Order: sequence, then structure tokens, then C-alpha cells
Amino acid sequence: MKPAQVLVIDPIQPDPDKIAYAASLLRAGKVVAFPTETVYGLGANAFDAAAVERVFIAKQRPANDPMIVHIAAESQLASVAAEIPPEAQALTRAFWPGPLTLILRKTAAIPSNVTAGLDTVAVRMPAHKIALALIEACGFPIAAPSANLFARPSPTTAAHVLADLGERIELVIDGGATWIGVESTVVNITTRPPVILRPGGTSLDALRAVLPSIELVRRPASMPADQAQPSPGLLDRHYAPQASVEYFDDSGGTAIERMRQRAIELLAEGKQVGVMVAQEDCARFHDLAVNVEALGPRDDLAQVARALFAAMRRLDCLGVDVILAKSFGASGIGLAIQDRLMRAAKVKR
Ligand code: TXA
Ligand code: MG
Repeated sequence: MKPAQVLVIDPIQPDPDKIAYAASLLRAGKVVAFPTETVYGLGANAFDAAAVERVFIAKQRPANDPMIVHIAAESQLASVAAEIPPEAQALTRAFWPGPLTLILRKTAAIPSNVTAGLDTVAVRMPAHKIALALIEACGFPIAAPSANLFARPSPTTAAHVLADLGERIELVIDGGATWIGVESTVVNITTRPPVILRPGGTSLDALRAVLPSIELVRRPASMPADQAQPSPGLLDRHYAPQASVEYFDDSGGTAIERMRQRAIELLAEGKQVGVMVAQEDCARFHDLAVNVEALGPRDDLAQVARALFAAMRRLDCLGVDVILAKSFGASGIGLAIQDRLMRAAKVKR
């Protein structure tokens, strides 16, 4: 396939003609990458099984991994979800549009490949003018996983999408860097209690303020590979960069010293080493021949989240063998950062 076309669209004031062009491709059954507030998505008409199939092929995504259906208005929800329990209504009122995905019973209009054969569907309303305008112009919901190759970090810029899928899709809408940087929080509202399947852009505390009964999911020890994944969190290598990642918990406050020791060890073995830490910790590595990525100030977890996937990709481009990553704690969006780092490091929880 020829290289993807890149369409630059202003994320504050999207040009309706450009949106209409992208929508015409989606209406014709093509796949289009577009920005959301979390990460870039790779979209197809959620009602068109053949178009959805093209997303799986482009991403090399296993068919047992269901995708998220994106809507632009509350009124579209009834075409996607068969039941909208009161808890779901409370959550959508509080958090939509925004980085929250709800698992609900699906309607017959949603083809089974969108949900990997499950009778539930993941739905969210993104808080991004380009995404909303695109869905509106289409007149149908857009099914979209993150626009990366399977098992690569999610893309937060159009350049990341092009690096992974440039030869495999028709069009990338370039709306600049996404501002949350990690994916949406996925909540299963069909269970008692409702559970968070994947921590993300909406924090546990914020969710509990609306729905106090909500719990974090417990991971089963193992899952047959051919079964539909009940949660994205069950795929261990979901967010892995090419380098191997080692995660350093900082409960004793000794993480930096342990990271330094490990870096010295790896350098002695002739390995290329990358380090991901807070801005304040960078200087601690200046005497070592390692590639340091400052993710942001220790107390600005929003900035750290925004920088996380791009940093993994930069270190991959440099060809490092090992990435040493320090914990940022688990408060607020820190929980999502911790989840992505531990998943990349394949730390069993
Ligand atoms: O922020 C986001 O959520 C981004 C943007 C593009 O919206 N999308 C995203 O999609 O991260 P994806 O496919 O990479 O992750 C969605 C996850 C899947 O891994 C899947 O396991 C889970 O949501 N999911 C989808 N349908 C589900 C269902 N019916 N039950 C349980 N989990 C589901
Ligand atoms: Mg993904």
C-alpha cells in the first residue's frame, strides 16, 4: 500500500471540509487514524464488520482483543448499548466527554468482531474536537483501538502513528500531540461491584466520588490465549517497547541508587541503557553513559503521563537494550502510569 496521506487539522477549530473528507473515507469502509485527548485511535465504521476487520489487519491485532466504540452524543448510546443502568448514567454525566470507557451490554447493530464475540461492548465519548466532529460528520459511531502496531506503546502524535502504520492505512489526521497521554480508564459496569479493568485518564478517586462501590479488577493467574480477553490488562506485553523494561519501585526511597547500580552493571556488560525518571532525578545519572528521559517534574503526574509513551519510543529509536524506569507512585493518574510501566516490564501483580 502507498504511504498514508497526512491531513493536518486544527484541534481547537477543526476545518469542516477536512473533517468531511476524512468522514467520506470512513463511510467508504476505509480506516482513518485520528487524535483523541488520550492517544491516537485507528477508526472504522463501528456498524461495518468488513471495515472493522481492516483495523485488526492493519494493527496486526489478535481477533480476541475487543475495541472501543466512540460516540459523539449521548443520543448515540442507545444504538450501541442495549442497557444503560443508572450507574452508567451517573458516570457518563460526570465524565463524558472524557477519558472513561464503559463496558455495557451490546446491541445487535454492533458486529461481533468489534467485541471479539463478547455480548458486551466498550463505549466512550472522547473529549477532543476533531474526534467529535469526525463522528458527527460520519453519522455512525467509530470503533477504534489505539493506532499503534500490536504490543507497541500507544501513539501520542501523528508521527508515532506513521512510524507504526504509515504503509498500512489510508489517512492520518494530524491534530498535534494528545494531552492526556495514557489511554482511557475502562470500567465494567455490568458486574457487581463495577470494576476498573484498566486504570487510565480518569482517576480511581474521581470515579469513587461518583460510584463509591467501584473496585480495581483482580487479575486471574492465567487466561487461555484463544479466549476473548475480558480486560486489556490481561495481555502482559500490551504496552511493551522493543527494549526490555525494568521497573523500580520506590517504597524505600532507594530506587535511584538501585537504578544506578543496575545501570553500571549493564554498561559493564556492553549494553545500551535508557533511563526514565522525574526531572529532579536526571542529574543523578549525568556521570554515566546512559540515555536519560526526563518525564516531567515529580509532582506533575499529568506531564509525566503525557511524556511516557513518547519517551519509550525515543529510547527504542536509539536502540537501547534495557530501559530502567522509576515508579511515580499510584495516586491520581500515577496509577495508570504505574500500570503501563509494570505491564511494559512484565511485572506480575
Ligand atoms: O483512550 C483510549 O481508550 C484509546 C482511544 C483511541 O480511545 N483507545 C484504546 O483502545 O486504548 P485499545 O483497543 O487499545 O484498548 C481498549 C481496551 C482493549 O484492550 C480491550 O481489551 C478493552 O478495551 N475492551 C474492549 N471491549 C471490551 C469488552 N467488551 N469487555 C472488556 N474489555 C473490553
Ligand atoms: Mg491499545
